[in-house]
Amino acid sequence: MDISVSGHTEKIKYAVRNIARRAKELEKQGKRILYLNIGDPAKYDFKVPGHIVNAHCEAICADKNYYGFSSGVDEAREAIAKDCRKKGFKNLSLENIIITTGISEGIDILLNVLLNPGDNILAPSPNYPLYDIVANKIGAQVVPYYLDEENEWQPDIRDMKRKINDRTKAILVINPNNPTGAVYKKETLQQIIELAAERKVPIISDEIYDKLLFDEEIHIPLASMTDEIPVITFNGLSKNYLAPGWRIGWIIESNINPRSQFAATMSNMVDARLSSPTPAQFAIKAALEGSQDNLASTISKMQERRNIAYERLNKLNGISCVKPKGAFYAFPRINSDKYGTDEEFALGLLQNEGVVVVHGSGFGQKPGTKHFRLVFLPKPDILHEAFDRIERFVA
Ligand SMILES: Cc1ncc(COP(=O)(O)O)c(C=O)c1O
Repeated sequence: MDISVSGHTEKIKYAVRNIARRAKELEKQGKRILYLNIGDPAKYDFKVPGHIVNAHCEAICADKNYYGFSSGVDEAREAIAKDCRKKGFKNLSLENIIITTGISEGIDILLNVLLNPGDNILAPSPNYPLYDIVANKIGAQVVPYYLDEENEWQPDIRDMKRKINDRTKAILVINPNNPTGAVYKKETLQQIIELAAERKVPIISDEIYDKLLFDEEIHIPLASMTDEIPVITFNGLSKNYLAPGWRIGWIIESNINPRSQFAATMSNMVDARLSSPTPAQFAIKAALEGSQDNLASTISKMQERRNIAYERLNKLNGISCVKPKGAFYAFPRINSDKYGTDEEFALGLLQNEGVVVVHGSGFGQKPGTKHFRLVFLPKPDILHEAFDRIERFVA
């Protein structure tokens, strides 16, 4: 019997599927594969700080293994609210904070609340692909605005103004950015806020990498810059606190009346499912209010690796790369046609040298340009080995 499948899954694509499958095949044949594609610090030598692990374990041992309140346990929401106030968020009450099963679930809930079929969100190109996937599932679209490689990958405001339209229900900003590693300037954020005010649309600000910053870079939470425009900020434990497998993210609704139809619908959607993992929620307070020493050592380790990646990438024949200022990704450009498409570049690199990267078209890029995304989380000796191999490939 053939089981029929729904139409709305047709457009769902996983950019690295071909590459991941090929990598596994090669690994089975005994080839040593170097993975520079996994945005998960726990897969490399980064560990969740002990006091955060203890808080999680203590919650389990204290029998807090129940479904929590669907918006999240109060102790954790209070810690998030306190952290947000410290960062300058405005007009915020506890009811404006929702804890989800990773930001991934938050994206799903939010886009379902915002979008009807035919609506769109204005989203960066390149983009973190989950936003496109969820919009597609709803029958809505993502309208891409370009990030400007010539301007350190800052959003191209003129392009945003050109692309926003009457069906646009929100503007998405990812800062620090995946896949480019850019951190946005205050002027850029101000211009985005002005555009949102003019077009009367809310802003979604995905700030999941906000503490992973290099070279004294400062991150400005977008919600701290306005007390008028509704801003829905995403954050969580997956990146800053190195615990992606715990599946803890949160949504912060600023400048949004908890009695509004939007807030009520968000709560309704959240109530319609069970809670995010309860014991792990008890680690949020420990993460936000406990020692941040581990964060400093994490950043210094990441910065050393960022430096290796940046230097070695720019020495490669036909490759150029803007310096990443935050997160743990670089998005180098391939300035040559000799490898074919960017996907063919990635497959060729894997086939010939056993290095896994993701082709830029998996994230979106300007027509006529070719890129790949590289994760610089591996230890320095592995990174150097990977770059020796890439060097051989492009030679
Ligand atoms: C920009 C961005 N947003 C959201 C996520 C997903 O986060 P979570 O682990 O909280 O679901 C990722 C994961 O890579 C990401 O890069």
